[in-house]
Amino acid sequence: MTAVVDQNCALARVSGDDLRVPLVQGGTTTYANFDYAASAPALAQVTDRVQQLLPFYASVHRGAGYASRISTECYEAARGSVTRFLDATDDQVVVFTRNTTDSLNLLASCVPGDTVVLDIEHHANFLPWTKHGRRVVHAAATVEETVGRLVAELCSKPAALLAVTGASNVTGEVLPLERLATVAHQCGARILVDAAQLAPHRRISLRETGIDYVVFSGHKLYAPFGAGVLVGRRDWLDAAEPYLAGGGAVREVTTGGAEWAAAPQRHEGGSPNVLGAAALAAACDALCEIDAETLAAHEHRLADRLRAGLAAIPGVQLLSIWTDSPDTVGIVAFTLDGFVPGHVAAYLSAEHGIGVRDGRFCAHPLLARLGLDGALRASIGLGTTPADVDRLIEAVATLVNTGPAWNYAATNNVWNPTPETRPFTSTAPVGAAPCLVD
Ligand SMILES: Cc1ncc(COP(=O)(O)O)c(C=O)c1O
Repeated sequence: MTAVVDQNCALARVSGDDLRVPLVQGGTTTYANFDYAASAPALAQVTDRVQQLLPFYASVHRGAGYASRISTECYEAARGSVTRFLDATDDQVVVFTRNTTDSLNLLASCVPGDTVVLDIEHHANFLPWTKHGRRVVHAAATVEETVGRLVAELCSKPAALLAVTGASNVTGEVLPLERLATVAHQCGARILVDAAQLAPHRRISLRETGIDYVVFSGHKLYAPFGAGVLVGRRDWLDAAEPYLAGGGAVREVTTGGAEWAAAPQRHEGGSPNVLGAAALAAACDALCEIDAETLAAHEHRLADRLRAGLAAIPGVQLLSIWTDSPDTVGIVAFTLDGFVPGHVAAYLSAEHGIGVRDGRFCAHPLLARLGLDGALRASIGLGTTPADVDRLIEAVATLVNTGPAWNYAATNNVWNPTPETRPFTSTAPVGAAPCLVD
């Protein structure tokens, strides 16, 4: 696919790309979604796959009925799509979970030793690692120096695992994963990559990078149907206690005990989320169809435009962890002098129909490092257009130049327009379908 710069064109069709939302001052506008990093809209291929499967929805691994067989087939085939998407090796199994948090807690229950983490992580890749010992390394001002600190920690005392984010959920900055995999292995540890923010934006080859474990969420990968994955080396997963004891995770049960199944079934106790797994597989298949360079180029063009536009507005400070990040995905975090982030987010939503995230992004240690108790985050994805980016820049510039046109107040730190005039209903009217880049 060759990307063409057109103000109104996205790289792919996503649900809600023609959504119209009410404005506090009256009227409606097309929603500009800059909150992909929190939860991305469904890709058209994902909703199509779910629609196709719905009539066949039935029990998985539990029935002889035709629909049950089709559901089972789809569920198991979904592992193959994830395997292809990640270029996983034969030894790496795909375990379906609820989300990234679930996947990380599952792996944490299997790790046979200490885990080394950075202080920049999302809480999901920070809190679960306490079971056998979590060793926190403080990130330095550069990636280079941070890698050095990780090596020093891994070499100073044996660790089972290095658990790092693929891309920061706050700044979008990417770590050199292949290099980290090499140094972790040299120090006798394995590496886990929290790819919740990386997988939607960059292709990852487990085979080429040597990454041992990877986790991500369907709802951030354009498949918001309640499934996530843990993909990784079988031995720890087979040796560990089942994550959820119950039906589906066993080979044989007696009144005295159980013979547990091997992974992945060992850790998938209970009825699985077949629609979630099929949706996630559809997203993996659809992303495999998009040329990796086209995807990265589309995103760099939009993110560079956004960063440049915001940086030119007086009072805007863009956030970053390092001065030498090798790459940054489409996530831009910033503050605005003189404005509380929640106030800015409420204004963007109420007066401009723009959705951004504000707060501490479930990364309190990182925000503390940055000396902040809150910021704004604008994140982009396959449905974002250059026109969306320009709208956000103009809206922030208007706030700085003329101030808000409405009153806002905070209750329990949540900012809202006063008075609030917008109806909160999901039956808002929708407008014309957008076009696609091809
Ligand atoms: C980097 C990162 N890791 C983990 C998570 C947790 O994902 P989930 O809430 O889907 O479990 C998030 C969510 O924002 C994230 O950005």
